[in-house]
Amino acid sequence: MMNAHIINAHIMNATDSLCVGGFESYYRSLVQYFANNKRDNLSYTQFRISTNRAKSQLKCDKEAIFYTVAYAWTHYLSAKRLLTQTFESIEFNAQNNSWQVIDYGCGQGIASLALLDHIAEAGYAHNTSIDLVLIEPSVISLNIAKFLCKRLAQACGIKLTVQTQVCHLDEAVLPKQNACSKTLHLMSNIVDIPEVQDSLEHITDLMNQIKGEHVLAATGPIYPNNTEGFNKLYNLAPEVLDCLVNKQEFFCNEEYKVTGGYWYTRDTDRQFLALKWQN
Ligand SMILES: C[S@@+](CC[C@H](N)C(=O)[O-])C[C@H]1O[C@@H](n2cnc3c(N)ncnc32)[C@H](O)[C@@H]1O
Repeated sequence: MMNAHIINAHIMNATDSLCVGGFESYYRSLVQYFANNKRDNLSYTQFRISTNRAKSQLKCDKEAIFYTVAYAWTHYLSAKRLLTQTFESIEFNAQNNSWQVIDYGCGQGIASLALLDHIAEAGYAHNTSIDLVLIEPSVISLNIAKFLCKRLAQACGIKLTVQTQVCHLDEAVLPKQNACSKTLHLMSNIVDIPEVQDSLEHITDLMNQIKGEHVLAATGPIYPNNTEGFNKLYNLAPEVLDCLVNKQEFFCNEEYKVTGGYWYTRDTDRQFLALKWQN
């Protein structure tokens, strides 16, 4: 009932599409609403100033909707590409998959939603259970992330529990006990943020206290701040590890251009890193 009170009506409507057609339907539904109701929504300038180009935590529903319309599709596609490539190299199978998943700076949960879509599309939904930990300083974003992940998992038949931490990464506490014995760490579009870079040592220390198998999957756009974050992450990771993916990739995708109000084909360049180790 709490969700019904908190979640914005337009996000609620789009969630019905999410449950039927996955994240693409959710994104298209919110774009359609935004395109038809521009006066009720934020301009790019307003959003850019109030959120420091989406690096700072979101503070209201309008910012959450703008973020989805402007950035979510590219973020989703890059998370999905990375996860597909990562799962090709690790044991993720039709028998039984039980994972603890930690989504750092999860925002509205795009990387976790890409994971749930991937599992469903690969045909593993009914053999998968996930204990999801969402960490994010924005209460607005975190509530949306929790709501969307629960609804999508339920629609796909994936067993899911969700824990949330409303905090910055330097205050995050990771669960030491891991009933799943496998932990997937998701870092989507956060390692360029200076405060996140400053917290990476704290986070990797905590990761090393969790027993079992670990996979870390990180992605973000290619630009100097991000490269710095990826290098720091790579250097902090344990020495004995498999590097499953470490590359830059370019792809084209059709996306709504929020500044012009039209659809166009966008060239996207992304950094992908996936590491695996055992504690
Ligand atoms: C560009 S968004 C990425 C959100 C999401 N992971 C995605 O891929 O769409 C950056 C996110 O990092 C969060 N953030 C900013 N500083 C943070 C910090 N120090 N610790 C944790 N999260 C932080 C913001 O609130 C925001 O949700």
